[in-house]
Amino acid sequence: MRELSWFERATVVTPGGVNSPARSFRSVGGDPPLVMSRGDGAYLIDVEGRRYIDYLAAFGPVILGHAHPAVTQAIQEASCEGTLLGTPHPSEIQLAEVLVDAIQGMDMVRLTTTGTEAVMSTIRLARAFTGRHLVIKFEGTYHGHSDGVLVKAGSGAATVGTADSLGVPPGVTDDVISLPFNDIERLEAALDQWGDRVACVLVEPVVGNMGIVLPRPGYLETLSRLAHRWGAVVIFDEVITAFRFHYGSVGSLLGVVPDLYALGKIIGGGLPAGAYGGRREIMQYVAPLGGMFQAGTLAGNPLSSAAGLATLRVLREEDPYPRMAHLAERLELGILDSAARHSIPVTINRMGSGFTVFFGPDAVWDYDTACVASKEQFAVFHQAMLREGVYLAPSRFEAWFVSAAHQESEVERTLDAVEVSMRQLRR
Ligand SMILES: Cc1ncc(COP(=O)(O)O)c(C=O)c1O
Repeated sequence: MRELSWFERATVVTPGGVNSPARSFRSVGGDPPLVMSRGDGAYLIDVEGRRYIDYLAAFGPVILGHAHPAVTQAIQEASCEGTLLGTPHPSEIQLAEVLVDAIQGMDMVRLTTTGTEAVMSTIRLARAFTGRHLVIKFEGTYHGHSDGVLVKAGSGAATVGTADSLGVPPGVTDDVISLPFNDIERLEAALDQWGDRVACVLVEPVVGNMGIVLPRPGYLETLSRLAHRWGAVVIFDEVITAFRFHYGSVGSLLGVVPDLYALGKIIGGGLPAGAYGGRREIMQYVAPLGGMFQAGTLAGNPLSSAAGLATLRVLREEDPYPRMAHLAERLELGILDSAARHSIPVTINRMGSGFTVFFGPDAVWDYDTACVASKEQFAVFHQAMLREGVYLAPSRFEAWFVSAAHQESEVERTLDAVEVSMRQLRR
């Protein structure tokens, strides 16, 4: 009998063969996803030994590239000192200090193990602080997989069709209002109707989960002003964006500071980590200082703290951001050129080193316009790029992330692959 492949083995013991639905290839043609054995700088290497230029960056965290020596060494050293102590320890305190220092308006921070927990905790905290229940969020944004935020969610939830997941009790979703992103009139109308019951307005300030979608000029300022007028807490979910575009929050880059932030991904340097924090007055509600309970056995664990600290140290000292943005811009222009040569309409939304190629729409400002992007064309493109040795996130609603490990040579090879793939789209 034929030996089962790794993925066939996975499907026997794990639902869909993946430990997160966003890793499945179902929305790009249903082929089995590739099983990768390791990462090396800007490359992923599959179990057959084939190398792929990687623009997934593990959905964002791996900003320095895979197995960066500074991060690997920090993890190795930390692991010799005990993986989990269950007590306060220096590296988690240092990581908290670094975050408070780098993120504007973050007076205090609590470390968690995932971004999901970080966002979930900001919502509970906003409710504790305001004594109100309602949450305003936006269609097509993704804030992790806790019950309350799986209402019209983006990312994997959007592509696998679980935008409104089974198993979420109506009592939870009744308290969540989902509005179109970038639409101030709808926000104003919702606040006019429910404003005195709204605990928080939760937003990805630059959305990463319906593809990259930027706020229109003035949108975040107005959102923040309106929320505050009604006494609601403004929460920026910066799980993707913090430290992605510069050394700090994207809020500060855009000139808007929220009351609370949720962080994750890059701050753990590829190990499990999240964090939430913000104004001291609000953070004082968190137990054991205050009455909002939130906890975590693995929160602030020494390995994640060491990997996060090492990553943030390299980002601060080497400032790879301008170079990463330059490479991403070269990709953007090259992809647009290639698409034009083959008469394939595409729109690219880019900020710094992150961008999304939408096949079809003239412009993408919200979830409805993101959904205009052709699923079929993206699937053909994705498969063609894989054949050419380039690994993209398997969804039209995700981003390409350039890491500090990418060089001009990878960009050139990627653009060659784009040209071949665009040709296939024309057929
Ligand atoms: C903006 C945003 N918030 C929250 C999360 C959840 O983070 P985690 O997957 O670490 O739970 C994600 C994950 O992709 C995200 O993109």
